[in-house]
Amino acid sequence: MGARGGYIADDRGSAARTGHSHSWTGQVPWHNTTRMNEQDWDNVATTFEKEIFNVPANDTKGHIIGWVDRLAVPGAVATDLGCGVGRTLPMLSDRYDKVLAVDVSAQCLEVAARACEGRTNIRYVHADLSRDRNGYPATDVVLCINTLLNASLEIRGALVDRTCRSVRKGGHLLLVVPSLNSALLTAYRHLQWNLRQGMSAKRAQKEAALNSEGLEHGIVRIDGVPTKHYLQEELETMLAANGYEVLAIEKIEYPWNTEFDAPPKWMKAPWPWDWFVAARRVR
Ligand SMILES: C[S@@+](CC[C@H](N)C(=O)[O-])C[C@H]1O[C@@H](n2cnc3c(N)ncnc32)[C@H](O)[C@@H]1O
Repeated sequence: MGARGGYIADDRGSAARTGHSHSWTGQVPWHNTTRMNEQDWDNVATTFEKEIFNVPANDTKGHIIGWVDRLAVPGAVATDLGCGVGRTLPMLSDRYDKVLAVDVSAQCLEVAARACEGRTNIRYVHADLSRDRNGYPATDVVLCINTLLNASLEIRGALVDRTCRSVRKGGHLLLVVPSLNSALLTAYRHLQWNLRQGMSAKRAQKEAALNSEGLEHGIVRIDGVPTKHYLQEELETMLAANGYEVLAIEKIEYPWNTEFDAPPKWMKAPWPWDWFVAARRVR
């Protein structure tokens, strides 16, 4: 499987970020559920660091911390939506007056609270963003890293809606989501690699086919789990429809060994990436 830890909690205790690994075709037992419920995330709470790809640690250009710094004015309150085991909580706690750490997984929140013991400005909120009542206020800044992944449009629609309403008017949303363009680029690289290894065109294409389920809607399987991937234009349209002005869209780029086991040396730029978006809520 791909060498990068995953975004996805699944029931096999493994979680590659993309599942596009060169060696995977036909070897991964797919399952047909749109998983990612509380239990799935609870199950990876103690192995999160090993299994779930660490976006902030791999944000080598500092897009996330740059915007977190820029928006950290005195008195500002921040929310980490889908905070997981709290990787970005110290970053927020150091820079903001108060921090809300929100997650559907009670186990992940427990790990986060232990890791951030002594940081008195963090409040932990156990809430399912896809449901109506959340019990936390809109804040000045909302950081949301790879939480809007659900393949189900009904669930994802609610997640997007709540996320957008978690920012106070005039406040800012800092969002990281998987890129559909990057998933397609990875498939192209896989094809190139197969051809260079002497496969017939037919077999090379078959083996590099994306593990998708509704590709036109951005649903690509990651380690067998259907996962939403986004187009830049889709993000712009989605945020505008929810009352946001997009201030920046950047690529958070990763090396190819995050997608493939032992990628060949010729496989260089363009690199695979996630989208980072900074947007201001205008209405
Ligand atoms: C891929 S992890 C990312 C965690 C963290 N943002 C990070 O970058 O390390 C996705 C997180 O979103 C949380 N999550 C997923 N669905 C959610 C929901 N409906 N409501 C609240 N949190 C949710 C999961 O529990 C998990 O901790």
